[in-house]
Amino acid sequence: MRLNSANINVMVKACRKAAKTIIRDFGEIEKLQISVKGPGDFVTASDKKVEKIIVDELQKARPSYSILSEECGEIKKDQSFKWIIDPIDGTSNFLHGLPHFAISIGLEHENEIISGIIYDPIKDEMFTAEKGNGSYINNQRIRVSSRSKLKDCLISTGGPRYISDKKDVILEEYKKFTSKVNIPVRKFGSGSLDLAYVAAGRFDGYWQRDLHYWDIAAGIIIVKEAGGFITDFNGGNEFIKNKSIIASNSKINKEMIEILNS
Ligand code: IPD
Ligand code: CA
Ligand code: CA
Repeated sequence: MRLNSANINVMVKACRKAAKTIIRDFGEIEKLQISVKGPGDFVTASDKKVEKIIVDELQKARPSYSILSEECGEIKKDQSFKWIIDPIDGTSNFLHGLPHFAISIGLEHENEIISGIIYDPIKDEMFTAEKGNGSYINNQRIRVSSRSKLKDCLISTGGPRYISDKKDVILEEYKKFTSKVNIPVRKFGSGSLDLAYVAAGRFDGYWQRDLHYWDIAAGIIIVKEAGGFITDFNGGNEFIKNKSIIASNSKINKEMIEILNS
């Protein structure tokens, strides 16, 4: 078993603590599903509660680090280190009692992501990575797949959301990929887990528009450290600015870019 750095240990501890609340609340949601009112407000409260647990844990361990988190926004402190948090990624799955969502925490140093954790509390799968040290699931090394023929690949994506102003473009891209692969494109509803699954070789590739930084911060380093490629739709490095990302094994990245630009 490998030794984790102090920062990874801090992230693991925060995830494990928050996971207890997530699992308990997920049990409640399954009951609320059948009530007339549904679990809507309960989920909003749950998201905030989970975020507070994570933020409190991280601040206790690293009081000088800045924070960017989906629900509470920015907490500005030492700008050289910043936690990027999505307390529950896959909220709609969570809301509908579908067991596929995760906590995602990335750590930035001098504007570069240096470590990340994505934790699926239901499957108890913890994906971690640190710059230069590889990627792991529950402390076992993971690598991206080695498939090179796109038609044999399992590809995933997400969206479009109903408020998206790029619905037509996104659906067109979906159509393009659909005509290139034998297995229908997957849409699982958690961007962070999509990235973690590329890192673990479960998905060969993933593309998506309209993403927020907290959806992808941890996934970026986890895919890279598993030997994968992360690019924007032009093959460049503007994926955070453009809010659009391609994650894949090294063999199909070029073809994915070509499809998106065809
Ligand atoms: C969403 C999920 C989803 C993706 C959306 C995200 P949320 O995050 O990652 O897979 O398609 O773009 O906003 O709202 O569940 O934290
Ligand atoms: Ca998210
Ligand atoms: Ca979220």
